[in-house]
Amino acid sequence: MSRAFTCESEVRGNPKNRNVAVLSVHLRAFIFGFALLAMSLIAPFVAAQNVELSVDVSKAGPKIDRNIFGQFAEHLGHGIYEGVWVGPDSTIPNTRGIRKDVVAALQAIKVPNVRWPGGCFADEYHWRNGIGPQRVVTLNPNWGGVIEPNSFGTHEFMDFLDQIGAEAYVSVNVGSGTPREAAEWLEYMTTAQATTLAKERGANGHPGPYKVGYLGIGNESWDCGGNMTPDYYLSQMKIYSRFVRNYNPAQQEKQQMLKIAVGPGGAEPRWTDWTETIMRAYQKHTWSWDIDGLSMHNYTVGHWPPSFASVGFGETEYSQFLKYTLDMDDLINKHSAIMDKYDPEKKVALVVDEWGAWYAPSPGSNPGFLVQQNSLRDAILAALNLNIFARHAERVRGANIAQMINVLQAMIMTDKEKMVLTPTYYVFKMYVPFQDAVFVPVTFDAGTYTHGSITLPRMDAIAAKDTAGKLWLAITNLDPNQPIEIEANLAEVTAKSAAGETLTAPKVDSVNTFEAPNTVVPKPVSAKAQGGKLALKLEPKSVTVISIEY
Ligand code: AHR
Repeated sequence: MSRAFTCESEVRGNPKNRNVAVLSVHLRAFIFGFALLAMSLIAPFVAAQNVELSVDVSKAGPKIDRNIFGQFAEHLGHGIYEGVWVGPDSTIPNTRGIRKDVVAALQAIKVPNVRWPGGCFADEYHWRNGIGPQRVVTLNPNWGGVIEPNSFGTHEFMDFLDQIGAEAYVSVNVGSGTPREAAEWLEYMTTAQATTLAKERGANGHPGPYKVGYLGIGNESWDCGGNMTPDYYLSQMKIYSRFVRNYNPAQQEKQQMLKIAVGPGGAEPRWTDWTETIMRAYQKHTWSWDIDGLSMHNYTVGHWPPSFASVGFGETEYSQFLKYTLDMDDLINKHSAIMDKYDPEKKVALVVDEWGAWYAPSPGSNPGFLVQQNSLRDAILAALNLNIFARHAERVRGANIAQMINVLQAMIMTDKEKMVLTPTYYVFKMYVPFQDAVFVPVTFDAGTYTHGSITLPRMDAIAAKDTAGKLWLAITNLDPNQPIEIEANLAEVTAKSAAGETLTAPKVDSVNTFEAPNTVVPKPVSAKAQGGKLALKLEPKSVTVISIEY
């Protein structure tokens, strides 16, 4: 670096050299222009890469838990207020205050569960502020220090879940709350008996008990959740696990509430110590406490504070960011190995309940609101992560992308009455058939895609049989320049046809906007059957999901 700088300043200092430099600049410009012209002439004829891929339909793997497609909705920026909740008096079409357009969009991606009310917000949330006719107005110190009106509370959340058809993943306040406060919240939500809290719930409009599928015991207790040591958190977690009960009669034998403990947020020793501490204790746990899951948070960020732009980038940032995201696999391997030591039967799920791309805030937005654009790169990033979770299906039985609306890697963006679906939304839609499908092994030699010093696998793929027995294949072409010609065969059976959808766009940073919402939308695609094999062309930088008839 410094050597190159010295040479350049020497050239700048000497007038004779300056002429030479000007000449060489012209020459370089000519060569560059010629190269560009040559590339544009050659581009349409770029030879596709050939990849043979084999799907072994006879082998059934683990179930891909539908909960890996979970969402996360925190009281943060416009994630809840404006994104979900507009209030019953709004001119924006709503059902009891909840946006109709957002509900319809979320129904279409079959959201299995929504994690709420945070995030960091959860460890400062007091549920009583969000019930009844008079809401307590508080602050949201974590996220911009804005007013928290508490108009969206327990009943509104449950109504929203009912409207979209999802289960509740409620994170209770361990950082600044008490076990009693959390226990009473669960009693308020779930008991069918005529307790004072149940009567209060009835008076507030819901006589019957609510279901709570998942209980998060704190959030990032090693950081915004209270800066606890692993041992301190462990002792707190045991108390919450003991006393915060679900009383819903429908959740006693079947559909029992799963308790998720706070887990790691990275690969460094402090995180591996954390996982060790919780899992070592779990191995020897007694009748009086239990957990069903360990949470893990892992954002694709590059470095903190987030500085990558979410739009207006080129191939270098595209390839760098995808490289970062593939680290998810190593992180899962690392923590799964620790969990395997203490829980070889994999009773405790690893729940990646915060994941996704975290970029620099969009220019002009409130930095505390975590607003960013969502491009084709995010669609590819989402597919790669979902594939990683599916390959770890035995251990990873839950994941929640951060966050559902208007925050970080969102499914949906809104601006007053306007709504737009992001490229990430479409990946979640295309992957619906993988919810609760049975993993089927796929083998292929991905080859590599190289840009500068970055080398990535050129493609990625997973396959699964859905609940009706239909075979599905999802393939991602990471290479932004070259198509891939796939020749797919099904071990021991003959493929007859295949059809589905593909998602791509003109540029790696193409986005959907309120004005142009259809720049990155899936298009139909089909494969030709030839001698029992399938021939399918994958566009550069694309995600394709097809169902295969055989
Ligand atoms: O998703 C935004 C924040 O990221 C969450 O509140 C917190 O848990 C994490 O650090």
